[in-house]
Amino acid sequence: MTAHRDALIALAREICTRAHAPYSGIHVGAAIRAASGALYGGTNVENAAYPIGNCAESSAIAAGVAVEGSRLRIAETAVWAVDRDGQMIAISPCGGCRQRIREFAVDGQVLVHFPWQGATLRTATVDELLPFAFELPGTRTP
Ligand code: THU
Repeated sequence: MTAHRDALIALAREICTRAHAPYSGIHVGAAIRAASGALYGGTNVENAAYPIGNCAESSAIAAGVAVEGSRLRIAETAVWAVDRDGQMIAISPCGGCRQRIREFAVDGQVLVHFPWQGATLRTATVDELLPFAFELPGTRTP
């Protein structure tokens, strides 16, 4: 639904203004609409020891789990990114975050919205972003 999408994009855009990304200069915001109806957001948090930074999607999922625990289910999600000057950057979830989103997605048809080349808004399903996703046998309901 477009209203859902627009609300998620707006949240991701707002949150990315508060990124802690002094090293890459890539300020990312992520927003989740949970199956519960709640919205959760997160931003990337970098560190001088580069590998230990967090992606925005990871932070948003952590915010959701902090409230809903393992019951968290992602119904829809959006990401947004800007550079140091506040200009929009094309971005889609990194490989690790695709796996993280899949872990909590209602199913593989969950929509992920992201800004893409030419300043267009793209939408893909979780299954399109991460086909043949890894799952631990017996840990997920179909
Ligand atoms: N980043 C995210 O927050 N999400 C992604 O899906 C891709 C990358 C962040 C991590 C790092 O702080 C910066 O973007 C540059 O890689």
